[in-house]
Amino acid sequence: SSGAVARNDLAGRRVVVTAGGTREPIDPVRYLANRSSGKQGVAFALAAAARGADVTVIAAHLDHDPASALAAAGLETIDVVTAADLARAVARTAGAASVVVMAAAVADFTPAEVSDRKIKKSERGERMELVLTRTTDVLGELVGSPVAGRIVVGFAAETAANRDELVALARDKIARKPADLLVANPVGGGRGFGADENEAVVLAASGEIVAEISGSKRAVADAVLDRVVALLDAG
Ligand code: CTP
Ligand code: CA
Repeated sequence: SSGAVARNDLAGRRVVVTAGGTREPIDPVRYLANRSSGKQGVAFALAAAARGADVTVIAAHLDHDPASALAAAGLETIDVVTAADLARAVARTAGAASVVVMAAAVADFTPAEVSDRKIKKSERGERMELVLTRTTDVLGELVGSPVAGRIVVGFAAETAANRDELVALARDKIARKPADLLVANPVGGGRGFGADENEAVVLAASGEIVAEISGSKRAVADAVLDRVVALLDAG
């Protein structure tokens, strides 16, 4: 069960958590980013540490409050900027991990060319096109080469009109990227990004709903970690 109960059920386990949102440079002064605050990822890191795990956080841009909370906890942290940086950091750390929690919002596309000078509007006229190329799907690669005994948790932030649509989108996602668990949450209309509370539907690889949580991001993290522990113990 979740809540402020002392547990040591991740003792001796290495947990890698990606948190925050990546930033893809366009030129020396501009980047493409997303609205992830890093709160949910940091909540996972703190919850895992409280349960005895050895935690490594791969931190893409974090808002001030989650960054402060993470710094105060003194967990091992690798700072990254771009999706490519995050992919390299995961590649370096996932081999030793029992659990990988992919909470970061990772850019799907990055500028095909990064200008080394500030782009001037006078050079572009009234319309500017930015060409983007696909990034590596880190979660896709992790679940594409599964490691026995390693649990991979994916996320799906979706603009769904209702719970049924959220579940349908999440089932689609886990069918394409068969993570051990997928944490789906609704975003848009003030929900999700930057908020302290979260609503989440957690799916197993089969698409079955294994938990539904509405509460603090820490409560969401602990409820998901309960499922992670159950899978580790079953494996
Ligand atoms: N993810 C990743 N690498 C990427 C993009 C996403 O590892 N280049 C991970 C995220 O960290 C998250 C999961 O994939 O755990 C789902 O991200 P999401 O953006 O919801 O799904 P996508 O598969 O990228 O699909 P789409 O954005 O089209 O909904
Ligand atoms: Ca995406």
